[in-house]
Amino acid sequence: MDSPLLLPYQGRHLDLPNRVVMAPMTRGRADDVTGVPHPLTKEYYAQRAGAGLIVSEGIWPEAHGKGGPGIPGLVTDAQVAGWREVTNAVHAAGGTIFAQLWHVGRMTHPLNLPGGAVPVAPSPVRIESEQIFTNAGDVDHVTPRALTAAEAEDLIAAFAAEARNAIRAGFDGVEVHGANGYLIQQFLAENTNRRTDRFGGSLTGRLRFAVEVVRAVAAEVGPERTGLRISPDNPENEIAERDPQATYRALVDAVEPLGLAYLHVIERGAYPALADLRPRWSGTLIGNFNGPEPTGRAAGEKVLAADLADLFSFGRLFISNPDLPARFATGAPLAPYDPASVYGGGAEGYTDYPSLVPQH
Ligand SMILES: Cc1cc2nc3c(=O)[nH]c(=O)nc-3n(C[C@H](O)[C@H](O)[C@H](O)COP(=O)(O)O)c2cc1C
Repeated sequence: MDSPLLLPYQGRHLDLPNRVVMAPMTRGRADDVTGVPHPLTKEYYAQRAGAGLIVSEGIWPEAHGKGGPGIPGLVTDAQVAGWREVTNAVHAAGGTIFAQLWHVGRMTHPLNLPGGAVPVAPSPVRIESEQIFTNAGDVDHVTPRALTAAEAEDLIAAFAAEARNAIRAGFDGVEVHGANGYLIQQFLAENTNRRTDRFGGSLTGRLRFAVEVVRAVAAEVGPERTGLRISPDNPENEIAERDPQATYRALVDAVEPLGLAYLHVIERGAYPALADLRPRWSGTLIGNFNGPEPTGRAAGEKVLAADLADLFSFGRLFISNPDLPARFATGAPLAPYDPASVYGGGAEGYTDYPSLVPQH
């Protein structure tokens, strides 16, 4: 098979058997009270250990960063112990797994937060066009509370502490979630960051939170174990970026000298993020497309053949095809996933999609 997706990859910090990355995907199955991963989570990821690299679902660094029911944390000893079982299982199956560090900012609701707390954000800008899922169903968003500068500093430290916990839990590295309209992108985008202090007010100000989180995480666990995910021009979750090229060129230039494990770029929107940012990034680049349908093999192959990225991540295909790289290698058919069982619940739609191809 001469698919570029199936070639081994040796980068500055990553040595992987293939270039198929499992994209981070929230599955909402953690214990909603303790934030400990579901007992089946180890099996779920171990089934997918044939990926060159797995990026875990988003995991909160602080309970107010939790976006909805069943989202796991990486703060308490019990959470660390739960994730330790997951990383052991993935490693036993020959895989590599990074933890995604995810604070949702305004993309949550008091019903999802301890003590009914009001969500925090760079500025008090409410989501108007969508509702948010809670244990009481879909409800209107509330107006978030603006973080003080001191609270923003505390959150930077919380990301670093989460990264430390991820390594304690046996993860091979961490990915800072700077994409999809969550806290970090809320700092990057003009419509959600109306601050006038050092965390806003100018391009440098809007970049500061993202850059400081990445720096703090890299200082804590090493740049070789730190990745960053971004989604320039992605309108999801009511983000409106006036000039994504200016913002993301500057962000990439700011983190490039750190020598990170990788940059993970979701291309969605008019701005050709991969082509524009690839020449500015000397390290490993992971491409991802986020369209209405699950991204297929051909799209990933095209990106790698054009040298727009070194690795390509697939999300939805991995839900229902645990042995995705092996199916690419053998031409085995791809199974569709069931949208009804994506979030929450137990084994159904989680660990019960069969592998067609023996992985070892
Ligand atoms: C069920 C589901 C959950 C997701 N959760 C996350 C997440 O926790 N963190 C993240 O960065 N992206 C998340 N995404 C986005 C995916 O990582 C990916 O960018 C998207 O699915 C597009 O890739 P695909 O076309 O291969 O599915 C999620 C996507 C899906 C379908």
